[in-house]
Amino acid sequence: MVSKTVRFLLLLVVLAAFVVPAVAQDATPEPAMMGVSPACADPASLSGDVSIGVVFGLSGNVSVYGLPQRDAVQLAVDQINEAGYLGGATLYPVFEDSAGDREQAIAAVTRLVDQGVTAIIGPTLSSEMTAAGPVAQEAGVLILGVSNTASGLRELLGDFYMRASLPESAVIPGTIAQATESLGLTRVGVLYGNDNEFTVSGYEVFVEALDANEVEIVGEETFATGDVDFNAQLTNLISQEPDALVVSALAAEATQIILQARALGYTGTIIGGNGFNSPAVLNQTGADSNGLIVGGAWNYSNPNPSAESVGFVTAFEEAYGYSPDQFAAQAYTGTWLIAEAIRCADSTDSAVVRDALLNVADFASPLGVFGFDEAGEPVHEPIAQIVVDGRFVPLSTVEVTPEG
Ligand code: ALA
Repeated sequence: MVSKTVRFLLLLVVLAAFVVPAVAQDATPEPAMMGVSPACADPASLSGDVSIGVVFGLSGNVSVYGLPQRDAVQLAVDQINEAGYLGGATLYPVFEDSAGDREQAIAAVTRLVDQGVTAIIGPTLSSEMTAAGPVAQEAGVLILGVSNTASGLRELLGDFYMRASLPESAVIPGTIAQATESLGLTRVGVLYGNDNEFTVSGYEVFVEALDANEVEIVGEETFATGDVDFNAQLTNLISQEPDALVVSALAAEATQIILQARALGYTGTIIGGNGFNSPAVLNQTGADSNGLIVGGAWNYSNPNPSAESVGFVTAFEEAYGYSPDQFAAQAYTGTWLIAEAIRCADSTDSAVVRDALLNVADFASPLGVFGFDEAGEPVHEPIAQIVVDGRFVPLSTVEVTPEG
């Protein structure tokens, strides 16, 4: 098993050098600016500042997601205002830090609602949204998640909640199907955080997807948010000699789980949920994350990016001097979606803007062609990724050897 894994990793390194760049370069379209083909006429009634609240985890562990989200929103706002997308009005973001904490998220959303914002983007975590969403719902203020991936949030929170982020249920089944086929998975161990809406939801979706692909779960272990030692759980799972470890965790715990699994001598595949989908996790785990498989809503190295994705990457790198991640792409798209809804509503009334947002369809974005289904959930193509040489690349661009 070890020699096959080494062969697999060597293959990835070789492919990283030759196959991936060749595929990516061939199909890259010219960059396109957002907002060049609006679905509705210039708004006639808007003027002055149109305030939106923006709540992200800007401090603490969750800031690995929240800081790129904040930069992406600011970039979108600058472009929207420069393009005069809201006619005579200016989009004015009010940023708040929820720090990954339910109570801070409630306080932030309450402050924004009291200020009379038209809409709120964020908070970052599903757990924060579950806590703070009811404040917006009660006040009748549109609240748009751009990174919440737990199942059933709209059913739970109500119709003022929408999201630009594909839930785990739209991403994980395809990732597990692709990984099962590529790697010939038959037996896996599962590890998840059992005190957080996102990690529990991810676990449930993983179990369903594994079952659908007839992959046996040979062990299940749990942890709590803030745990730092995963050796006992990992030792139990690794002793079952699984084909892969399947993990639902946020970035801080995900990082330690990767490092500790490798330190215990585990060389096999790790499959993670949305919490793993951050360059910060890869930076902090180095070579230990090579071969990690994670589903996502956007990938920097997509061999067939939308023209808007190319334009977004170019503008983001120019503005900030670092490369955007999936969280940034979703936050940027979400901000443009809010602008599109305000423009088409020609109103700052939150309920009218919410209805206009629900009507957004075939929206050309960095995430691809974006729309909402009948339940108000986002629809666009997800992408399965694998880590090669410290970077997420599309799984479809890498030929992996089945482990036996
Ligand atoms: N996708 C993660 C969540 O929903 C960040 O909490």
